[in-house]
Amino acid sequence: MSLGPEFRSDLYRGTARFYDEFRVGYPRRLLDDLRVRARITGAGRLLDLACGTGQVTFGLGSSFTEIWAVDQEPEAVEFARAKALSHGVDNVRWIAGRAEDVDADGYFELVAIGNAFHRLQRRVIAESAMRWLVAGGHLALLWSNSPWDGSLIWQRVMADSLDRWTRKAVATERVPANLDQHLAEEPHTNVLVSAGFTIVGAFEFEIPYEWSVEKLTGFMYSTSVLSQPALGQNVQAFESDLRERLLAVQPEGVFREDISFSYTLARRP
Ligand SMILES: C[S@@+](CC[C@H](N)C(=O)[O-])C[C@H]1O[C@@H](n2cnc3c(N)ncnc32)[C@H](O)[C@@H]1O
Repeated sequence: MSLGPEFRSDLYRGTARFYDEFRVGYPRRLLDDLRVRARITGAGRLLDLACGTGQVTFGLGSSFTEIWAVDQEPEAVEFARAKALSHGVDNVRWIAGRAEDVDADGYFELVAIGNAFHRLQRRVIAESAMRWLVAGGHLALLWSNSPWDGSLIWQRVMADSLDRWTRKAVATERVPANLDQHLAEEPHTNVLVSAGFTIVGAFEFEIPYEWSVEKLTGFMYSTSVLSQPALGQNVQAFESDLRERLLAVQPEGVFREDISFSYTLARRP
């Protein structure tokens, strides 16, 4: 099994405020379900890898005595640290660094990775997580769909805009060319099983959501491929084009979908 394709380390620079405002949070039903299936005691510790601005940490944090939240993008970590301070959340150790470099054996009840496992050196992380976890502890991979995943007409506009503007901004290299093939050849669950995990299951939750042009634009700016730094001088042109094309197919400016959230749960035997 190879280490897999490498992403650049600065891809989320300039996204923190958009990520925090425009990414839809993991639904309470999913988080409650995860707490139960992972047998969270309330007395354990959480390791949130690739934490971004804290979507998993703020969602699950109250169920743990201590959380380590790790992300390689310092801007995201600083944003989350400030948010925690303003919300009186004081049980999180915010760490700017690579997930692969965490060093704390037998320390965590849950290792959680939100929308990011494919970006990490999966084999290294899975093998390390076996050590980081207490016996019987769990690893959860959380995921959510993006607004261009689907066949609604406005979702096709989003997919097409993503494709065209990523090419125009010469940002296609921000996703390794062989990523899809690599993930198809070595699915996440295979990586976890090879490291010694038992798969508990995969669980899906849908929530209805209404987007506006502003929210969809903000979502685009939260991505690694159409962040404002990635778009560079194309930001204004991109924004006008997206608005025009979205309103052309849905003039009232309301874009409805059921967003799919899911998680895969694995247990350290
Ligand atoms: C799509 S965001 C996920 C944010 C959040 N966990 C969530 O659930 O929405 C991906 C994050 O992974 C981080 N990341 C990518 N590779 C990383 C690595 N090797 N170590 C730590 N963080 C990493 C990026 O900086 C980015 O903040």
